[in-house]
Amino acid sequence: MLTALIAGLFYLATATLTIGLARKILVYARTPAPLKIPTTPAPTSRAGVAARLLREVVLFESLFKASKWTWLFGWLFHFGMFVALLRHLRYFTDPVWGWVAWIQSAGIYAGFAMVIGLAGLWARRMLVDRVRYISAPSDHLMLALLLGIGGSGLLMTYVWHTDIVALKAFVQGWMRFRPGELPADPVLVIHLLLVICLMLVFPISKLLHAPGLFFSPTRNQADDPRERRHLPGGA
Ligand code: HEM
Ligand code: HEM
Repeated sequence: MLTALIAGLFYLATATLTIGLARKILVYARTPAPLKIPTTPAPTSRAGVAARLLREVVLFESLFKASKWTWLFGWLFHFGMFVALLRHLRYFTDPVWGWVAWIQSAGIYAGFAMVIGLAGLWARRMLVDRVRYISAPSDHLMLALLLGIGGSGLLMTYVWHTDIVALKAFVQGWMRFRPGELPADPVLVIHLLLVICLMLVFPISKLLHAPGLFFSPTRNQADDPRERRHLPGGA
């Protein structure tokens, strides 16, 4: 019963996430950018723009220039989440890829980085007056959801362990539409239900900043209006 429920919800969430995200990316790609508005100083070539976007994604360069504290907690959270997610690849691959096995031990600390980062970002939303004033309920809910996922994950890693072998059998079976029995551990079930919520809200939430960044005219345009005539593009 529990296995069927969680497996079914995961199929629904995966479909919603992939179709919803593809639709949004299509809308972004088709939206005209009528004006030349790169944030200056901006690169003047395509290679320069690619390098700028890479620095933005990996280092959060513009956030660093804007606010050091937000950058510190924001970067800790995103980088921690990224490494923790890579660590999760061991459930989805069999045999486990060499580099995934290699990052397992360092990956444990990633969960702490994620949770510390989230706690800092949430404290900022509650303690800094001008940020609290402009924070909508969804800003708080996203942080709560991600904290719930990170917190329940860490609880499993350090306090209430779950049966990883059985969980992997569930995941491997799920990918072949024949899920194995899911271990009925409450913390695991909470972790998975929160992940399902995250996948469902992703395509209709502020989390769209992840794909959105690549379509932002202030970041993806080259500063070359004198060399090239700008056309709006899109559809
Ligand atoms: C390409 C990948 C991503 C990049 C470059 C990125 C970058 C950023 C940056 C720079 C901010 C700070 C915005 C600001 O306050 O000015 C931010 C905020 C945030 N990001 Fe991401 N992000 C990415 C993916 C994700 C993903 C996949 C998630 C969640 C699953 C996520 C969750 C959040 C949340 C919840 C906030 C708001 C933090 C707050 O309340 O202050 N991000 N992101
Ligand atoms: C199908 C999806 C997922 C499954 C099956 C899953 C399962 C698990 C399990 C079993 C653990 C405990 C690991 C251990 O005992 O060593 C764990 C930990 C963790 N999970 Fe997940 N999880 C999933 C998705 C996610 C997502 C989407 C995030 C982040 C947004 C996340 C964040 C974490 C963190 C931070 C930890 C603690 C650190 C670690 O052990 O890596 N999980 N997860």
